Amino acid sequence: MVHPADGPGLGRRSRSLVDECHHPPRPGSRPAAGRLSPTGRLELTRRPGTGPDASLLGDINGALVVELGCGGGHNLAHLTTQGARCIGIDHDPAKIHLARACYGHLPRLHFRNGDAARCLGDVPPGSVDVCLSIFGAFSFTTPGPLLAAVATALRPGGQLLIVLRADAHHDYITVLTRR
Ligand SMILES: C[S@@+](CC[C@H](N)C(=O)[O-])C[C@H]1O[C@@H](n2cnc3c(N)ncnc32)[C@H](O)[C@@H]1O
Repeated sequence: MVHPADGPGLGRRSRSLVDECHHPPRPGSRPAAGRLSPTGRLELTRRPGTGPDASLLGDINGALVVELGCGGGHNLAHLTTQGARCIGIDHDPAKIHLARACYGHLPRLHFRNGDAARCLGDVPPGSVDVCLSIFGAFSFTTPGPLLAAVATALRPGGQLLIVLRADAHHDYITVLTRR
């Protein structure tokens, strides 16, 4: 699936924030120092409010969801509101610190600092229902070792959702199902 990511509606302020973390702050969110409430929508493109949302993943109530390159944790915070149990992994300690400060108070949400493939190796094989890389680790890593780690961690029928920048104006959204 290719989705338009940019356009006349994306203003200058949003552009700078997009460059910073790919998602501008959600309406009602406060600056990054304190606890935040979960956001109202899973944003899968650089144009918030457009494109597919969490329904792309089906029913995730009770599902174990791991985000590879979770940044500030906004995506997973939203998914906890749908009953998912979530683990966010990021190799940047500052991002994990921010994610914990913002969303560490939420139930069923944990953050790990480290490389995505390595941290996935600590998860029991076949226990993960969904892996996400939303402009995350798959955007920055040689895919082979990470794909192998995902294949081990996912249960049969589990899903890997990858969002990549296609170009300045479009994002690719790919959903793969573990056999
Ligand atoms: C552009 S941000 C996206 C953050 C988040 N997924 C979002 O949509 O807001 C990319 C994140 O991936 C993390 N990252 C990149 N490669 C990684 C790797 N191999 N293991 C863990 N985290 C990684 C970066 O530290 C960064 O926080």
